[in-house]
Amino acid sequence: MTLLDVRGLSASYGKVQALFDCSFSVGDGEFVALLGANGAGKTTMLRALSGIARSSGTISFDGQRLDARPPEERLRLGIAHVPQGRGTFAEFTVDENLSLGAITLSDAAQVRRDKERWYQTFPRLRERRNRLAGNLSGGEQQMLAVARALMSRPKLLMCDEPSLGLAPAITAEIFEIFKDLHKRHRMTLLVVEQNADLTLQFADTAFVIETGHIVATSPAHEMLHNQDIQKSYLGV
Ligand SMILES: Nc1ncnc2c1ncn2[C@@H]1O[C@H](COP(=O)(O)OP(=O)(O)O)[C@@H](O)[C@H]1O
Ligand SMILES: [Mg+2]
Repeated sequence: MTLLDVRGLSASYGKVQALFDCSFSVGDGEFVALLGANGAGKTTMLRALSGIARSSGTISFDGQRLDARPPEERLRLGIAHVPQGRGTFAEFTVDENLSLGAITLSDAAQVRRDKERWYQTFPRLRERRNRLAGNLSGGEQQMLAVARALMSRPKLLMCDEPSLGLAPAITAEIFEIFKDLHKRHRMTLLVVEQNADLTLQFADTAFVIETGHIVATSPAHEMLHNQDIQKSYLGV
């Protein structure tokens, strides 16, 4: 079943067009990698989907049209966005950040259960639950950003360059968590990365974006071994 369907999506910053007529879909439970060089339009794509960048074209999500809806409604409908640079609240504790992630939900008992569940997935966060987010390491902040996004009970988790600035071992830990979310929790994931080789090992499907155009779509394992695509678009 298709969860997200995007048709003819374009986006601009003033006179600078960043996305051109992009069309793709993401199946329910699918793990999709969105790859491309710096400046290709990956961040703009996630911003257009979550509604914080203006776009034209149609976005259908879980059977509903999103394109005219503001970001808070898209969040309520199940799109969670972990932005590039993480965006946790530095002055709040880990636990408070998780509470803020559940701001769209009203059932306090359920929020407590969800926290418990994500503390199980992220034991480092449980250990640091009373620390200020600003005092965590980069890897822990990324984990917190993901956990906070999960607190909104998303149907689609979008994550922008989770590996940015992190040591390889920490990045690997984060991708293992994505794998667990994907396999065990049946979460649909849209992960933007410049680290193509790593992401292709985990994803089902990959899209490559170049100067605002989707130029390649294929099963991730095929792209992993496709020298042409890797050379042309991913600079490997
Ligand atoms: N706030 C902005 N104002 C003007 N141009 C922008 C802005 N953000 C991004 N761009 C431009 O849009 C294009 C796509 O950027 P972006 O989506 O951030 O790429 P990526 O995430 O793939 O590195 C780039 O040419 C970039 O310079
Ligand atoms: Mg970006």
